[in-house]
Amino acid sequence: MGQLLESYQDEIYLTGLTGTMPDLPTDLHQLEEAARAVMAPRAFDYVAGAAGSGETAQENLRAFRRWRVVPRMLTDVSTPSYSARLLGTDLPVPYLLAPIGVLSLAHPDGELAVARAATAAGVPMILSTMATSTMEDVAAANGDGQRWFQLYWPKDRGVAASLLGRAQAAGYRVLVVTLDTRTLGWRPRDLDRAYLPFLQGIGIQNYLSDPAFQAGQVSSVEDDPQTAILRYTQMFGDLSLTWDDIPFLQEHWHGPIVLKGILSVADAHRACQAGVAGIVVSNHGGRQVDGAIAALDALPAIAQAVGTKLAVLFDSGIRGGADMIKALALGAQAVLVGRPYAYGLALGGQAGVRHVLRALRNDFELTMRLAGLATLSELGPDCLQRRP
Ligand SMILES: Cc1cc2nc3c(=O)[nH]c(=O)nc-3n(C[C@H](O)[C@H](O)[C@H](O)COP(=O)(O)O)c2cc1C
Repeated sequence: MGQLLESYQDEIYLTGLTGTMPDLPTDLHQLEEAARAVMAPRAFDYVAGAAGSGETAQENLRAFRRWRVVPRMLTDVSTPSYSARLLGTDLPVPYLLAPIGVLSLAHPDGELAVARAATAAGVPMILSTMATSTMEDVAAANGDGQRWFQLYWPKDRGVAASLLGRAQAAGYRVLVVTLDTRTLGWRPRDLDRAYLPFLQGIGIQNYLSDPAFQAGQVSSVEDDPQTAILRYTQMFGDLSLTWDDIPFLQEHWHGPIVLKGILSVADAHRACQAGVAGIVVSNHGGRQVDGAIAALDALPAIAQAVGTKLAVLFDSGIRGGADMIKALALGAQAVLVGRPYAYGLALGGQAGVRHVLRALRNDFELTMRLAGLATLSELGPDCLQRRP
């Protein structure tokens, strides 16, 4: 069965006849520079910044250039089908919105605007623990959209369980547990500005609104916000967590669990043994381990090792349709879009996120068709060639 492809391209050319140009760049690589012009410098640095030298963040993008698509001619791509179903979630094309914290830094409507744009586009969003609106408010904005919840696992198990309970009650269907951020990486662009939004109470709304967190406060959060912020900092990240702790999540989450931040085959095997439903091959956009391998370079071996047993998702460096094709061909079942939508949000609020989702989708669909690929199942390593 084919599907009606949405043609943003047609719309852009047709409205161009009346002199209307797109508000935002259609090459998503250009969003970063465009966003720099509208964002407060420290907010921009927080989003664009990376760990240490920034080498891994750059390497994420370079890794895509080491692969080239090999287009095939004269295959019937008149009725293509690029939709997918992953862990009970429908994807119009195999992408989701990555969990990105503190989105009010990009736009006052923050996660609420993203949630609305996601529902309108039929794209699932993964809400970060570090959102600037509560998960319940984001769920309300997301309406009948599909939503997953990302957990940064706090030291306090009562608060962890409470966050998980709230997320399930608010309709988040899949739990994404981020393993690579048990503490924050060394981020010079934030350090040089001595800027960490959480210390100003920005991005900890899920904590401040949490009954288990509040129960540990002597004074209320409203009466004594500083103490609440300090308690949050003491609770964030647990460096003692090991694979033996995964059953705690399974006890408190009654749905699929996905582990984010896997970069080695050995850890992918551990994830299988732990009995989770999926993994995200990711280096957090180069924000954690400076010098870490590019996420795309980690993907093929991991997908080969566990791809039939686990859902394998990918992020870190997706900037266009060809990037999606490369990640899917190397074994990912879906990709997460990260920084581009944060920049879209900064540039145009909900409409900016919509632009990014439409541009990426249409670029992906067109490039698939032009490469002669009518279905996702045709994607495989033989669609690519590695540059010497
Ligand atoms: C500003 C910013 C905040 C982020 N916050 C989170 C977060 O709260 N939780 C999480 O799991 N990942 C977070 N990430 C990582 C993203 O989910 C994703 O792994 C990363 O953006 C992928 O790299 P890319 O954006 O360069 O493609 C964040 C990334 C950025 C840029």
